[in-house]
Amino acid sequence: MPQRVQDKVALVMGAGSIGPGWGNGKAAAVLYAREGAQVFAVDIQESAAQETQRLITAERGECTAFQADVSQAADVEACVASCVGQFGRVDILHNNVGLFATGDVADVTEAEWDRLFAVNVKGMYLTSKACLPHMVQQGRGAIVNISAIAAMRHVGYSCISYAASKAAVNQLTRSIAVDYAQRGIRANTILPGLMHTPLVEHSLGEEYAGDVQKMIEQRRQIIPMKRFGDAWDVATAALFLASDEARYITGAELVVDGGVTCRVA
Ligand SMILES: NC(=O)c1ccc[n+]([C@@H]2O[C@H](COP(=O)([O-])OP(=O)(O)OC[C@H]3O[C@@H](n4cnc5c(N)ncnc54)[C@H](O)[C@@H]3O)[C@@H](O)[C@H]2O)c1
Repeated sequence: MPQRVQDKVALVMGAGSIGPGWGNGKAAAVLYAREGAQVFAVDIQESAAQETQRLITAERGECTAFQADVSQAADVEACVASCVGQFGRVDILHNNVGLFATGDVADVTEAEWDRLFAVNVKGMYLTSKACLPHMVQQGRGAIVNISAIAAMRHVGYSCISYAASKAAVNQLTRSIAVDYAQRGIRANTILPGLMHTPLVEHSLGEEYAGDVQKMIEQRRQIIPMKRFGDAWDVATAALFLASDEARYITGAELVVDGGVTCRVA
């Protein structure tokens, strides 16, 4: 039975995980490999990319690990050149990298604002810029950008630089979708809600004095499904958007949040 991304080359940016367990990027990379793709796993932390490579090759999948910072043009160009040099093409660009920060306008420093936009927005611009010429030449390609529900709602605590950067990701993706629609390229966004990943424990746990369970219990109450999602919920959504099953879907925003954005309060 053919797999859902059989023989495609998937370039996953931020394919590692910030801590032990399954992050969104790591799960997506593993799932693409399970569904037949050759994976090029990129992370700023070489060891994190190598861990994903180890997981994939242990399942007899094909994966190359590469160290790069998505906010640096030279790194991104070297990474895409290496991916195309090794696998001959790039069919799926999965942009998972996204830094999180709390704070309202008064709290956030200019340097913090610039850092979040450099990584979260410029990073996706740079990876798209490097991959699109190859996709145009191939006459096909799919871009999956990971945003967040904070792009469209206040999520109950201030994270102004993160929210604004993710809103920019949404419009960057819509614009690419329109600009490249006639050249066989699709671009879509996933907006995860409250997901139980290492990133959340790392970023929000400190607000609850490290009591992650207390944080999860309190925040779980506002989710209509009464549970957090996990990295696999994001990965399976990405697999669908990257696959040919989504061939008529471009410029879409797929919310993966257990219904939380449907609530008034
Ligand atoms: N976990 C959630 O609840 C949640 C909710 C909404 C959106 N998201 C989005 O999901 C994405 C991340 O999810 P995750 O669980 O994989 O997080 P993660 O932090 O575990 O993994 C991200 C990986 O990106 C790497 N990275 C960081 N900066 C980089 C850079 N400049 N260049 C290359 N790699 C870099 C990290 O080393 C890490 O391995 C982000 O875009 C985030 O905004 C997460």
